[in-house]
Amino acid sequence: MTELYDTFGVGYSGKRRSDPRIAAAIHGALGDAESVVNVGAGAGSYEPRDRTVIAVEPSAVMREQRPPELPRALAGSAEALPLGDKSVDAAMGVLTDHHWTDRPAGMRELCRVARNRVVLFTFDPALWDLFWLNTEYLPGFEQLIEPEYREPGFWRDELRELLGGDVRFVEVPVPHDCVDGFYGAYWRRPHAYLDPEVRASISVCRKLHRDEVAAAVERLRGDLESGRWAEVHRGLLDLPQLELGYKLVVADLGSGDR
Ligand SMILES: C[S@@+](CC[C@H](N)C(=O)[O-])C[C@H]1O[C@@H](n2cnc3c(N)ncnc32)[C@H](O)[C@@H]1O
Repeated sequence: MTELYDTFGVGYSGKRRSDPRIAAAIHGALGDAESVVNVGAGAGSYEPRDRTVIAVEPSAVMREQRPPELPRALAGSAEALPLGDKSVDAAMGVLTDHHWTDRPAGMRELCRVARNRVVLFTFDPALWDLFWLNTEYLPGFEQLIEPEYREPGFWRDELRELLGGDVRFVEVPVPHDCVDGFYGAYWRRPHAYLDPEVRASISVCRKLHRDEVAAAVERLRGDLESGRWAEVHRGLLDLPQLELGYKLVVADLGSGDR
C-alpha cells in the first residue's frame, strides 16, 4: 500500500492534522512509556513530543512531509520493523493497520519490538454501517471490507489472538469539529465531502471506483441543496460527537513467549 501513499500522499499534511482530543486519548493510552515506535508514522500526526520517538514509514512522499521539529522517519514497514527485540516501551500506529499488506505479520512485529504496550487508533470494520456516508451514498464501502471482518467480533477476536490476551477496545467518538480530515471526520459537515481537496486526503475515496465516488458526490450535493440531507439527519445536527466505529486498541504485553 506504499504505492498508494507515494501518489495520493502528496499534500496529505494539509488536511490531515492531529485532533487534540484524539491525541489526548492516544497519549493517555501510551501511559508511562518513555520510548515509542510510531509505525506508519506518515507526516507525524499524533506523534508524542514528550517522549523518545522512533518513526517508521514506508512512503518517501509521507516521510518528506514531516515537520522539521520531529525526528526523521526510518524507511520501513510494519511487517519488518527495523528495530531490535523489546527495544522500545511501546509501539503505536494511527489509522495505518488497514493499509498493511500483511496485518498479522505487522501485529507480530509490534509485539516483538515493544516491551510493554501496543496502542492502535483504528476502526472496527464490522461497524461500517454506523456512518451515513457508507449506507446511503457509498454502498461500495462494504465491499472494501473482507467478508469475515463484517462479522461482529471477528476483528476483535483476531486482534486478541495477534496481540495477546490482555487487549482493551476503547470507543473514540469523532468530534463534530474534528481537526483531522480522516474519512469519518466530517459526519456533521457533509458539504466537506463535496470538496475534491478533502476527498484527496481520504484513502477510501481512492480505493473506491472513481465513478462511484462521483455519483455519490452528485447525489449528496442534490440532497444538500434540496434540504433532504438535513431533514433525514436532523438528529445529528446538535450532537457534539458521534460513534462511527473508531477505536483505541490497547494491548498490555506480558513477558511470556509470543
Ligand atoms: C492514513 S495514513 C496515517 C499516517 C499517520 N499515522 C497519521 O495519523 O497521519 C496511513 C499511513 O500508513 C502507511 N503505510 C502503508 N502501508 C504500510 C505498511 N505496510 N507498514 C507501515 N505503514 C504503512 C502509509 O504510507 C501512510 O503513511
